[in-house]
Amino acid sequence: MDHLNTIDPEDITRIAVVGAGWVGVSFAYQLSMAALCEELVLIDSNHAKAEGEAMDLNHGISFAPSPVRIWAGDYSDCRDADIVVITAGAAQKLGQTQMDLAEQNAKVMQHVTEQIMASGFDGIIVVATNPVNVMAHVVWKASGLPKHRVIGSGTVLDTARLRYKVGEYFDLSSRNCHVYYMGEHGAGGFVAWDNARVYGKSMKQLLEENESYRQEDLDAIYQGVRDAANQIIEYKSAAYYAIGLGLLRIVRAIVRNENSVVTIGAHLDGEYGASGLHIGVPALIDRTGIRQIIEIELTDEEQGQFDASVGRIRQAIDNIES
Ligand code: 2OP
Repeated sequence: MDHLNTIDPEDITRIAVVGAGWVGVSFAYQLSMAALCEELVLIDSNHAKAEGEAMDLNHGISFAPSPVRIWAGDYSDCRDADIVVITAGAAQKLGQTQMDLAEQNAKVMQHVTEQIMASGFDGIIVVATNPVNVMAHVVWKASGLPKHRVIGSGTVLDTARLRYKVGEYFDLSSRNCHVYYMGEHGAGGFVAWDNARVYGKSMKQLLEENESYRQEDLDAIYQGVRDAANQIIEYKSAAYYAIGLGLLRIVRAIVRNENSVVTIGAHLDGEYGASGLHIGVPALIDRTGIRQIIEIELTDEEQGQFDASVGRIRQAIDNIES
């Protein structure tokens, strides 16, 4: 890729992925085909795994819409990265909750973040490691970066799962289902149904107008989203394609300076009545990271669910820090 050497380094977008496991590699593969960056670095404690993945990805580059230089690197390569995506750490196993991974993965996040920052990195970090809101907080603290530059994947995946299910139920494109999954990722999160709009209408209105739509079905949709990870883990040990695309959604919004609303894990500072932790909320994403947290109106019950998520995330953070 010698021709890339003629490009002004300022014009090269480099994205580093830390963790070449299922999630990191799914994301890297999708990114390699997305025409969003010129350079893609894979970093893994198992360097041979990263080498093998980089080789395999490079062999597909002649089919990509634009050239990408992909290599297995080390943390020093983060120095010139615009975005580092962290997917390293232990994954959820059957019967485990995401919170069960907190202590173990917090140590991994601490180590990884110290290495990233030691390189002189000064970009945006996106965190996908579970429990994602707790891990985003650990990374944010360890990095010393401003809060808008440490973004958790939050509830981007839950919202995608939700929109798929809602689209199927109401028989329209999931892209036109304006509904957010908020709070914790997975179990513990909730659907902001009161704010939802489908066919330009609220759920209340749709349920009132058409008796074939029922509240029980919406409840079942929520349960399906909440339990999705466990179900996939039971069937095939791990879930990775959709979270890879969720990460791509966040990265695209940054690289393209989109000002798009995405449900991500943001550090709150008074929004929704909470402070000092990351949690899944809708937010405007642009090239600076989180431009603004969107405060949608929640019912009292939804705010109660949000507060419960805040309590559990805070508890997990306290456990790690004590
Ligand atoms: C998921 O929800 C396990 O967090 C992962 O698919």
